Amino acid sequence: MKATSDIELMAGPEGDLSAFAGTTRALVDATLDRLLPAESASPTRVHAAIRWSVFAGGKRFRPLLMLAVGEAFATAPELLIRTACALELIHTYSLIHDDLPSMDDDDLRRGRATCHVRFGEATAILAGDALQSLAFQTIAGDEQLSAAPRLRLIAEVAGASGTPAGMVAGQALDLEAESRAVSASELEQIHRLKTGALIIAAARAGAIIAEATEAELAAITAYAAQLGLLFQITDDLLDVTATAETLGKTPGKDQRSEKATYPALYGVAATRKHVIAVHQNACAALEPLDRPTVRLRAIADFILQRQT
Ligand code: IPE
Ligand code: IPE
Ligand code: MG
Ligand code: MG
Ligand code: MG
Repeated sequence: MKATSDIELMAGPEGDLSAFAGTTRALVDATLDRLLPAESASPTRVHAAIRWSVFAGGKRFRPLLMLAVGEAFATAPELLIRTACALELIHTYSLIHDDLPSMDDDDLRRGRATCHVRFGEATAILAGDALQSLAFQTIAGDEQLSAAPRLRLIAEVAGASGTPAGMVAGQALDLEAESRAVSASELEQIHRLKTGALIIAAARAGAIIAEATEAELAAITAYAAQLGLLFQITDDLLDVTATAETLGKTPGKDQRSEKATYPALYGVAATRKHVIAVHQNACAALEPLDRPTVRLRAIADFILQRQT
């Protein structure tokens, strides 16, 4: 498989993040292509919908983070890649459902029509359901790992995806908070759950496969908790400041839907100050880690500065 050269290219945390992101993306996309049912296989409509959403672009941030954590612990990408892809499948499922008319009602995602606009609502719901199942099947069937880490990873990803402590819980609270006042702590909790939980799971999955110590896992978890918060607050900012062209989704939707966001609660200027503090917290959380953390810091920098 061509991925071998990608793996070789990823050796060493010294290279710049864009090169690492590029090789990660190539490896993730090639693996996803093998994992997903062919569009020609029956039922073709749902398979076409799955591929429409998965291969629409997207930053592949959760796989990137997981592979970067693995790299910090000198763990071979072969051991990480299937779980990294499983996280991207869960993430893509969450986006398809997030865009549904009954949720955020969006028609642009990753620069193209949303899944339900292109394929209809029933197919979009099924595509999301199938992606979620496929994610767990992908981890369960990972022959690079022994049974114990597979089981642990399934539990991690399930907890981070569902309820009461995962993405679904956050999505429920996000919808419930529309058009009403929320407190600062409620808002932070929504962001930690709807977006932070899966980002924490991505970082922890890398550390679990790397057989990190409990202290190392705690540092990685603390870092990823700040990173997840940073990721959703910058998402809130981009909804106010970016264009549809760069964002690949329709800006201004949060205000129109009266969503609970940082700019809505604090204003853009105060939110910008807050993200700098959250970024600093993310980097500080790495300090106890006696591993090369330059890549993980670069990832925090990337999220702080992201335009998309
Ligand atoms: C968007 O996630 C939804 C959030 C959790 C904020 P991303 O910004 O990672 O979306 P893609 O994967 O790059 O499209
Ligand atoms: C989404 O939050 C979080 C998910 C779990 C998908 P948003 O609703 O802000 O994400 P976007 O802006 O539509 O990508
Ligand atoms: Mg939403
Ligand atoms: Mg949305
Ligand atoms: Mg958003």
